Order: sequence, then C-alpha cells, then structure tokens
Amino acid sequence: MTDLQNAYALNGPDDCARLYADWAASYDAGFAADMDYRLPAHVAAAFLSHGGTGPILDVGAGTGLLAQNLRAFGYTAQIDALDLSPQMLDRAREKRLYSGLFAADVTQALGLPRRYNGITSSGTFTHGHVGPQALDHLEAIALPGALFALSINAGVFAANGFDAALARRPNVTLLETPIYGSASKDPAHAADRAIIALWRHPG
Ligand SMILES: C[S@@+](CC[C@H](N)C(=O)[O-])C[C@H]1O[C@@H](n2cnc3c(N)ncnc32)[C@H](O)[C@@H]1O
Repeated sequence: MTDLQNAYALNGPDDCARLYADWAASYDAGFAADMDYRLPAHVAAAFLSHGGTGPILDVGAGTGLLAQNLRAFGYTAQIDALDLSPQMLDRAREKRLYSGLFAADVTQALGLPRRYNGITSSGTFTHGHVGPQALDHLEAIALPGALFALSINAGVFAANGFDAALARRPNVTLLETPIYGSASKDPAHAADRAIIALWRHPG
C-alpha cells in the first residue's frame, strides 16, 4: 500500500499517532512532492482572501506546509500548531514558522493557553482521521468573529456528517478544490478533491 492508502485506511487517533510517527521524516520530500500536494496552499489562499487575521491555530499542522504557504502569501503574524503527532510537530518546529506547538487530540476538549482569531486546517478532516465532533472543541478556543478555513475531503463530507454539522453554523462558504496538482504520481488519487469550509464563529 502507498502512504496515502495507509492514511486513508486509518481508524481514529491511535492509528493516526502510529502512522504519522513513521511518516514524519519522509512526508515532505516523499508524499507532498510526489503527489504535487496543493491543498495547504489552497486553504492558505482561501483564509487570507476571506479576510483572515491572526493569531491563527493550524489544526493537524503536521510538518507545517500550511504555515509555509501562509508565510509565502505574506502573512506575518502569529501561527500556533496543534497536532496529535509529536514527530510531525518536530518537523514543523525545525521550520521556525510557528510560535506555539501543541501535541493534542482535537477530538477531545482542548486545554490551550490562548484563543484564536483564525482556525486553519488542511488534510486533517479526511478518511479515518478527524470527524465533525472536533468542530465544537475548536469553536471553544475561537475568539468571537474568528474565521475558520478547514479542508474536508470530499469523500467524507456527507458520509461522515460534515454537511449536517456545517448546516448548523451561520453563513458557511464551501469551496471545492483539487487536493493535488497535475504532477501527481499516483493516478488512483490524483483527482481527489476537498471542500474548504469557511465561516465566522459568532462567539
Ligand atoms: C494528512 S496530514 C496533514 C498535515 C498538514 N496539515 C498538511 O496539509 O500537510 C494529517 C495530520 O493530522 C494529524 N491528526 C490526525 N488525527 C488528529 C487528531 N485527532 N488531533 C490532532 N491532529 C490529528 C496527523 O498527525 C497529521 O499530522
């Protein structure tokens, strides 16, 4: 199985922690390069073009690809990282893009030291990873008016109840986007798509 097939076959936090511990070292140069992985750039662009401001919490930050894209688009304020995997956060820490890095499970209540004006995420709301129950935990650490920009794999959007969860939020914008670019080396997944959900937390 490819790394991506292994990732899609996961079942919750314990599986994720094991897989990403092994995957962290090769994630950028292997998976992201080979798949021409564009989703972090699409989420960063959507967040900024909808008026997102900091401080930002990047959820399931992994090795920091979303923060790299926010910086590349000119965003200079604070970004914190949250991820289940300490090994993925170690890779992110090396890039010196984040202020705070928190090892935590977003499917549980979060005891973070601050609240945020922006909540971003790419690639974490997907097959076998994180379901819509995490949205309540994220809203608990969002400031009033905070902008959410979260990618959700199109294959789980209705099947895992994101459609119903987002219907309960006010004025949600949904943008469908390809996850990978035309140089992807995996024909089985090259056409996979995600939905970027954007909304402001009423507080
Ligand atoms: C596909 S990677 C995406 C990483 C990065 N955002 C990107 O786009 O490259 C998914 C990330 O979600 C993290 N993750 C999975 N389940 C999680 C959970 N319950 N709480 C927090 N992070 C989780 C994994 O450790 C992994 O780093």
